[in-house]
Amino acid sequence: MKIDLRSDTVTKPSKLMKEAMMTAEVGDDVFGEDPTVIQLEEKIAKLFGMEAALYCPSGTMTNQIAIKVHTKPQEEVICDKKSHIYLYEGGGIAYNSLISAKLLEGSRGVLTPDLIKDGINPDDIHFPVTSLVSLENTVNKGGGCYYKLSDIEPISALCRNQGLKLHLDGARVFNALVETKEDPIAYGKHFDTISVCFSKGLGAPVGSALLGSKEHIKQAKRVRKVFGGGMRQAGYLAAACIYALDNNINRLSEDHKKAKVLGNAFRGLSITKNVLPVDTNIVIIELSDDFTPDQVLRKLSNQGIIGVPFGKKEIRLVTHLDYTDDQLAQTLKILKQISF
Ligand SMILES: Cc1ncc(COP(=O)(O)O)c(C=O)c1O
Repeated sequence: MKIDLRSDTVTKPSKLMKEAMMTAEVGDDVFGEDPTVIQLEEKIAKLFGMEAALYCPSGTMTNQIAIKVHTKPQEEVICDKKSHIYLYEGGGIAYNSLISAKLLEGSRGVLTPDLIKDGINPDDIHFPVTSLVSLENTVNKGGGCYYKLSDIEPISALCRNQGLKLHLDGARVFNALVETKEDPIAYGKHFDTISVCFSKGLGAPVGSALLGSKEHIKQAKRVRKVFGGGMRQAGYLAAACIYALDNNINRLSEDHKKAKVLGNAFRGLSITKNVLPVDTNIVIIELSDDFTPDQVLRKLSNQGIIGVPFGKKEIRLVTHLDYTDDQLAQTLKILKQISF
């Protein structure tokens, strides 16, 4: 049995999700005629108190569209140095939007108003114009830590005050919301755009949505087209996302519990220097001096457990919908017996 903990993106659609997909009503979404895509967009926008939404093929695309919509060439986005938009989107900030990134060092990727305030450039021709702030919730590279609404409110107030747009990379925002028990509707007041992924913890096979005002989403639709992200009978995929929203949000707390157990199991092993606090579904293990990620991952993989390298001295394991109780029990058994 392979136990795949590389990411929460590895899940496969369940039987019921597939049934919802097979019976979806579809149309040509580039013509705006797919009723299931429209239903998904209305549902997710309403959930976050936003006017409109746009269904896109990936989280990378929704983030990149947002950056392009909010900025002009030569400007600058403020984000944490651990942020996905900077680290893992192939240099898209520069490539797609011709802007630079001001990288701040938050606590495990979580920024504060003071850090952001310090990062805003003065009105001086030598500096790029700061026009956008982007937060990530939960923070992937930070080990799944999260912002609470009370952390977001003063950042949003600062951005409004300074005339900056505020984007949220909410690829795993539902993991944060399940922990904080906060209502997503409050998010709509604070962000200009929000990117939400259906294909991570929620378990849908494809897709993310960008949420925002009607005007921002109208512009986003143009950018999606030029990025090649216009899809035709996408309702088959949107139906899986609707199913995921209806069925797979509250159960994320099970993934979080399993991640905590997994994190504890790594504490005290010879390979482990430190396990980052496990706040949601991501476990980052910092390795002791004598071990490399490749070495440890090879040993684990020989026993059927698959993770990913996550830096020069770190590995990452992520719990998800398809990680069963039996698989967790098997993982714990293997970790007790394995010698590195
Ligand atoms: C925080 C974060 N944002 C965005 C993305 C991009 O999502 P996608 O793989 O759908 O492009 C990921 C992917 O893992 C992510 O972890």
